[in-house]
Amino acid sequence: MIIDGKKEAEVLRNEIKKEISLLQEKTKKVPTLSVILIGNYAPSEIYVKNKVLKSKEVGINSNIIRYPDNVSENEILKKIIELNEDSKVSGILVQLPLPKQINKEKIINLIHPSKDVDGFHPVNVGNLASGYQAITPCTPLGCTLLIKKIEKNLSGKHAVIVGRSNLNGKPMAQLLLKENCTVTIVHSKTKNIKVECSKADILVVAIGVPNFVKKDWVKEGSIVIDVGINKLENKIVGDVKFEEVKAKVKAITPVPGGVGPMTIACLLKNTLECFKAHLI
Ligand code: GUN
Repeated sequence: MIIDGKKEAEVLRNEIKKEISLLQEKTKKVPTLSVILIGNYAPSEIYVKNKVLKSKEVGINSNIIRYPDNVSENEILKKIIELNEDSKVSGILVQLPLPKQINKEKIINLIHPSKDVDGFHPVNVGNLASGYQAITPCTPLGCTLLIKKIEKNLSGKHAVIVGRSNLNGKPMAQLLLKENCTVTIVHSKTKNIKVECSKADILVVAIGVPNFVKKDWVKEGSIVIDVGINKLENKIVGDVKFEEVKAKVKAITPVPGGVGPMTIACLLKNTLECFKAHLI
């Protein structure tokens, strides 16, 4: 089975849209997402354009605050303080990567945890790791929702995650632990990645290497989630050799049309959650 991320994302966006509309009737307010975009890195331009477009569709008021590549760190920090204090702003997103004169850690740490729609702030990271309520990074959240569409009860399943980034691998592990999976994270220094992958009931691949996972790496009947977005010979491919792996597994996400649309839908979900938290 090929998991239709586009369709699932549309279902989620429709739910979000309905809830925003009801809240707007009641409160006369709408969620607002402020996106800081620095420089003109083409992939970031595309991601941000999509985020803003989909926000509008569900009734989230979003705006892009643009800066040139050589902007000072101080100017960005000042803007974040201003957005933190602005009661009309529900969520703040600083698109990554950042130019080298800007310290990512400083930026992430300054965004108020209650407006941190990416779930990157240490307070949210810590809450997620503790199993408390937390704003959860959008991509792993989207992956979890897709996995749960295929298999409601993940208890006791062996999940293997390829990649240990703060953006994907680490929060993915926390979410699957919360679902009572037995979780293994493999990475560039792991001795035998192939053997570890072949034990997975659920395999999440977020390593950024095109066609990294082959057919003989996956277990028959497993669920494979491909987080990769790689440009290869003018085509977008994932981290999994889709054509050969799909025949062997129970379910797999395609690239494009798998995890990507869910990431954006989850950003909208997080923005709505931040908006609701500020209404109280
Ligand atoms: N750059 C690539 N993915 C992301 C993301 O999820 N959030 C932010 N802020 N920047 C990104």
